[in-house]
Amino acid sequence: MNIIIATTELVPYAKTGGLADITEFLPLEWQKFGQNPIIILPKYGFIDTDYWGFKPTNKILNIPISYWHEHPRLWQGFLPNSNVPVYLVEYDEYFNRPGIYGSPEEYPDNDRRFIFFCRAVMETAKVLNFHPDILHAHDFHAAFTLAFLKTHYKHDIQFARTAGVLTIHNLAYQGWFFPDRAMNLAGFSSKDFYPGCWFEQKGMLNAMKTGIMFADKITTVSQTYADEIRTPYYSEGLQESLNIRGGDLVGVLNGIDYTQWSPDKDEYLTHKYDIDSLDKKRNNKYALLEEFGISENDNRDIPLVGIVTRMTEQKGLDLVMDKIEPFIEHDQMKLIVLGSGDQKYVDYFNYLHSKYPKKCITYIGYNNNLAHKIYGSADFILIPSRFEPCGLTQMYALKYGTIPIVRQTGGLADTVSEYSSLSGFGNGFSFFNYNSDELAYAIRRGLDLYWSDIHWHLLQKNAMASDFSSGKTALEYLKVFKWALDKVRND
Ligand code: ADP
Ligand code: GLC
Repeated sequence: MNIIIATTELVPYAKTGGLADITEFLPLEWQKFGQNPIIILPKYGFIDTDYWGFKPTNKILNIPISYWHEHPRLWQGFLPNSNVPVYLVEYDEYFNRPGIYGSPEEYPDNDRRFIFFCRAVMETAKVLNFHPDILHAHDFHAAFTLAFLKTHYKHDIQFARTAGVLTIHNLAYQGWFFPDRAMNLAGFSSKDFYPGCWFEQKGMLNAMKTGIMFADKITTVSQTYADEIRTPYYSEGLQESLNIRGGDLVGVLNGIDYTQWSPDKDEYLTHKYDIDSLDKKRNNKYALLEEFGISENDNRDIPLVGIVTRMTEQKGLDLVMDKIEPFIEHDQMKLIVLGSGDQKYVDYFNYLHSKYPKKCITYIGYNNNLAHKIYGSADFILIPSRFEPCGLTQMYALKYGTIPIVRQTGGLADTVSEYSSLSGFGNGFSFFNYNSDELAYAIRRGLDLYWSDIHWHLLQKNAMASDFSSGKTALEYLKVFKWALDKVRND
């Protein structure tokens, strides 16, 4: 199959969250299965093109936007250590900025930036003479490609046998645009915008809804989230559209790439270990604490709890703020926090560090190296999300024998099961209601079990044996793609 992946994030070039990990491993796996994927990404100013081996091509795109045309240049490279082609769309006016979506506020012209990018995806296929079987769009930023496929390119022979698939990574971000301006930029008449049309939601143009309605098939990143988003609490207002398209909506659980995330080969770890040498993990904990000025006289053997996250309301940090301090104050655990985002969370974790410098480490920012070290050193990882489409952090943590304490929602519910000391099954701790007492009780259960050697080792082994390999996920997508192709080709 010829597959176009349209995305605004891709490891190792541009990442704010798990989306970037997924758009990297899927094409790598697909290529191993004999498929022919290409990836199209904006050329952000912060991508070090020399370092990653990107070269400008002589291909200039002709992008109709409103009543004029814009002419970005295409760059080409390959995903590191692979033959998967990556095309970058160069247009500095839109993409040579400090952030992907904003810095830190959303850029006010994101409608124009992403509509332009979507049109550029279609035109890239044209100049490359690439005949896609599948156009795979990720999240609202790429969703307009699916509308274009069924409208402006509907009669284009090159796309005659192309199926459009939307993958929803996070419904909280939908792309709300002013209709007159966005319809015009996308080359549609404002007459095509009316209440109830496929673009419209609450009187605004909604890019996610547009993608949902125009896609041939829709996937999201776990089975539980696929069920949850049909209900008002989780659908962020889109339950009607998702239910209308319900027969074409499926959950495909994300996976992780164990070649990059495995404690026996992780170059970032001071001490590598595997399921049979788990005792070495403790040395990583000592090394990490030492790095942050916590020495052997500072009670280093109590449980270390890690948080690695975008600091947004989604991630349940309000529950943490409500309950974590007494655990730290009374030396029941130490905390290490890595993340950035909303100021109130940043302030809170800075406050905890300043009050308990030997008990709470706070690192505000993005640091991949430190993320690996936390998975390889901490005893627990805390993910009490209000909603979580899938979540990769718990999957990474499990592989490193770091026990997740999670809220039972979305992909967290599909990957973490409560440990039972009766049966010896289970790989973590979880709670159901979005409630800080329930969180505190789950933390308490975890901290208690930590001191019981036999159970703790069994739990860690269960965790490390959990398998979420990317190959399985990639195969599941191929099944969805076949299903989408059957739909298009039988219509
Ligand atoms: P989301 O995509 O909602 O942020 P996921 O759990 O799917 O959540 O993915 C988060 C990814 O981002 C993981 O790979 C995690 O290790 C990484 N990550 C999150 N915050 C940071 C940070 N501050 N520094 C380094 N990596 C981070
Ligand atoms: C989103 C979700 C997260 C998911 C990731 C990759 O950012 O918040 O739960 O794991 O996308 O699909």
